[in-house]
Amino acid sequence: TVLVVDFGAQYAQLIARRVREAHVYSEIVPSSMPAEEMLAKEPAAIILSGGPSSVYAEGAPQVDPALFAAGVPVLGICYGFQAMAKALGGTVAKTGLSEYGGTELDVLCASKLLDGLPEHQSVWMSHGDSVTEAPAGFEVVARTGGAPVAAFENLESRLAGVQYHPEVAHTPHGQAVIRHFLHDIAGIKPNWTNSAIIDEQVAAIKAQVGDKRVLCALSGGVDSSVAAALVHRAVGDQLTCVFVDHGLLRAGEAEQVEKDYAQLTGIDVRTVDASEQFLTALKGVTDPEEKRKIIGREFIRTFEAAARGLAEEQGVDFLVQGTLYPDVVESGGGTGTANIKSHHNVGGLPDDLQFALVEPLRTLFKDEVRAIGLELGLPEAMIWRHPFPGPGLGIRIVGEVTKERLDLLKAADAIARAELTAAGLDRSVWQFPVVLLADVRSVGVQGDGRTYGHPVVLRPVSSEDAMTADWSRLPYELLAKISTRITNEVADVNRVVLDVTSKPPGTIEWE
Ligand code: XMP
Repeated sequence: TVLVVDFGAQYAQLIARRVREAHVYSEIVPSSMPAEEMLAKEPAAIILSGGPSSVYAEGAPQVDPALFAAGVPVLGICYGFQAMAKALGGTVAKTGLSEYGGTELDVLCASKLLDGLPEHQSVWMSHGDSVTEAPAGFEVVARTGGAPVAAFENLESRLAGVQYHPEVAHTPHGQAVIRHFLHDIAGIKPNWTNSAIIDEQVAAIKAQVGDKRVLCALSGGVDSSVAAALVHRAVGDQLTCVFVDHGLLRAGEAEQVEKDYAQLTGIDVRTVDASEQFLTALKGVTDPEEKRKIIGREFIRTFEAAARGLAEEQGVDFLVQGTLYPDVVESGGGTGTANIKSHHNVGGLPDDLQFALVEPLRTLFKDEVRAIGLELGLPEAMIWRHPFPGPGLGIRIVGEVTKERLDLLKAADAIARAELTAAGLDRSVWQFPVVLLADVRSVGVQGDGRTYGHPVVLRPVSSEDAMTADWSRLPYELLAKISTRITNEVADVNRVVLDVTSKPPGTIEWE
């Protein structure tokens, strides 16, 4: 394990991902963790992340010199680099030469850290203070205009550091620096591969579950699908999946999910068609939060009934959750406590239905989940499915949800999706909600007559994590085609509009 010590910037997760991309397992720990505790984890190396403080600021997180005395390889990045320099007797000073953004780096001599990289290269900087003197025993291997010591290494004690951010995409040779540190300086074998991840998780699931029975709620999304496939690989038909069809999925999706599972993995999937029940419960409701609550409640009721039935039929001891590593990190986790997400998973199950949780994705990032999903033989379409909200089309009809309106929205949405796919642009957008303004009418003209129909909103967005987003600049030709087809083919829709709002201030969904 490589420990990534988080000094409070947003970069620690990115560093941990880059380490995994170099095929080495990584974990994030807070900088408040005592050095002994870090060393007790017997890390193969430690990486100190960037952070917002100045090393001389009062209360700035420090690095315990004991960390460097233990013989563990350490890489310091940005703030971690300065903290390392200071702890080992170097000098960090306010030079008045801050650098932010793309900066020219000059390589000064041959080194392991920058081996084979161009003598002049662009790196991403974000610092006010600078290391002005490296600690004894360190060789200064690169500098920039504002940082006389921009990178150093001490091969004997396997310590190195860089002032810039090798983990960001704006540093083109950054991944090479991370690789060089891990493989060449620290001497770690790159053995964290997809098949190793699968083997490890399969062994862990087998050990946890034994010959007991496992239940999984499928959503058709990538996380629950990969989690189910892993558990199935581990314990075969001890796994039963329940797929609640709430009728708010997009056209053909429920059938697709069933078909994919049946054909590809031989997993036992029980589909519960609850669409009537959901429609009845949503009758007359227009408030978005109330819709969410109702859909969540009905989901739990339906799943619970299915779970109870199965428990009576064959007993159920474990429940699969598709929790990912970022959720674990963000909830301050790692403690092993259950972290059940909101209603669209299975939070809120009653106390008398007691399951232990199986969380085979708990240590993984989304890109790793996708990669092992493909390796497990899940279809590309499932692996690259756009995120879709638990309440589904229920929160994409502005106004009351009725059968007729759902059919209308499904038809418009299917056209938008098909055309996006045909244009080869599926992966260029994060999500592409299509929204029906069911309570709005607008005047149009079609054929020889006046129409009085509903507008549909196209909301294609680009995003990294759904926290912020921008509207996607889809080609006009594509938008024109979608608009023409929707107004021609979907009765009662006579207008198509494009949402050009970023998030913030807009959210991705309209409700
Ligand atoms: P917003 O609309 O808040 O959406 O920008 C951010 C992301 O979350 C999804 N979303 C939901 N997912 N239950 C879910 O499971 C919900 O109630 C819900 N609301 C929004 C949305 O699709 C986007 O990916």
